[in-house]
Amino acid sequence: MTASVESDTRPIIPADIAKIIISPASYKDDALVYGAFKWLRENMPLAVAQVPGYDPLWVVTKHADIREIELNAKLFHNADHNPVLNDQASDAFTRKMNNGSIRNISSLTYMDPPEHAAYRTLTSNWFLPGRISKLEDQVRQLARQSVDHLLSFDGECDFVKDFALHYPLRVIMTLFGVPPEDEPRMLKLTQEFFGVHDPEEQRPEMAADPAVGAKMWAAALEDFYAYFDDLSAKRRAQPTDDLLSLIANSEVNGKPIPREEANGYYVAIATAGHDTTSSSTAGGVHGMIAFPENFEKVKADPSLIPGLVDEAIRWTSPVKHFMRNATADTEVRGQAIRAMDRLMMCYPSGNRDEEVFADPDRFDITRSPNKHIAFGFGPHMCLGQHLAKLEMRVLFQELLPHLKSVELAGPPRMVETNFVGGYKSLPIRFKKN
Ligand code: HEM
Repeated sequence: MTASVESDTRPIIPADIAKIIISPASYKDDALVYGAFKWLRENMPLAVAQVPGYDPLWVVTKHADIREIELNAKLFHNADHNPVLNDQASDAFTRKMNNGSIRNISSLTYMDPPEHAAYRTLTSNWFLPGRISKLEDQVRQLARQSVDHLLSFDGECDFVKDFALHYPLRVIMTLFGVPPEDEPRMLKLTQEFFGVHDPEEQRPEMAADPAVGAKMWAAALEDFYAYFDDLSAKRRAQPTDDLLSLIANSEVNGKPIPREEANGYYVAIATAGHDTTSSSTAGGVHGMIAFPENFEKVKADPSLIPGLVDEAIRWTSPVKHFMRNATADTEVRGQAIRAMDRLMMCYPSGNRDEEVFADPDRFDITRSPNKHIAFGFGPHMCLGQHLAKLEMRVLFQELLPHLKSVELAGPPRMVETNFVGGYKSLPIRFKKN
């Protein structure tokens, strides 16, 4: 959005609501953030947030608007500005470090047409449902090992720390080609990468810095790149059939993929590929605890498990936003959007939109159709969606037959993030069959 807001006729969101939507800390408190989204959908479904320290931006809370904007990737770019919302101090730091460019990682998210399609094509076949379904036996083996581990606890554990964080990590790292001994390092870096605003994840030397968001992100990237440079070189010298080999040995416009773009790909998969799925899995269990009739239903009829998976992803919505910027003056929902205005796609809000979902705060595994937009929409729609759904389905198929009951053993805790995240802790008590 242009910096000047003089003679502004656009709807301006009340300061307290705007602060809730923008501030990473709000997302620790579901009731607070979903309350603010509900208010916006009812009163100002497309309006401008002006929060000190941040660029002014349009907050997009309606399901239909998010779909309309994301579908039109020519009119709404990801990456003329930062596709991830950060404060102005952090964006200024990023530009300073990158010769004026806001592109701090060359991943798909930071690409627009035609570059985006050229890079997405490199792996899109690998992620197709038919190809992913061939991985089911391998994924099931990993699920069984993880379930055995969970059942080794004596009726009480932290479902996130003891279980949900590790299984999707193991799945993606196995398919990707990262050796098991390096998984803790990948997990730590991912938690730093997505938890840049969470005091429990911040590196102490950066915590007080106004640009902590960008500094944490840059530090995690540096560590990721150091790791992947090495692994990438190994896979070029000796290709295997894993995903990392596919990327390392791919070509774009007849030339080997450049280092920055290869590393951007690796980091996107090594981060997006597990944190989101862990949170959604934990959300599925939490949903069944909060609305126990679902647990009874799915126990009685395992054919409801795919519905459980979709509802877990909708209800949790682990990706809180991605940004778009308008490339020309246009209109959405009767509002005049100007070229270079920034728009925040609020997926959790779209997924609770009363016009699409009856009784949207309710966790209901029989919801049909379940047209959630937790994976986004349009050309950037999640590359790993079929893998995420497969690994969650297989996991619940392996886990549920062993569980007689499950309840909370303490309050759930959420990560402090306005970007990607969800459960930090979900203490549970369970009985085995
Ligand atoms: C429940 C789990 C997941 C959720 C909710 C999720 C959500 C999302 C969302 C909202 C986007 C942005 C879409 C947009 O801009 O329209 C995205 C993009 C992406 N996701 Fe996922 N994701 C999940 C799992 C995964 C997994 C398992 C992988 C990889 C193995 C993955 C890799 C990616 C990549 C590479 C992109 C960038 C795509 C692009 O810009 O073209 N995600 N995801």
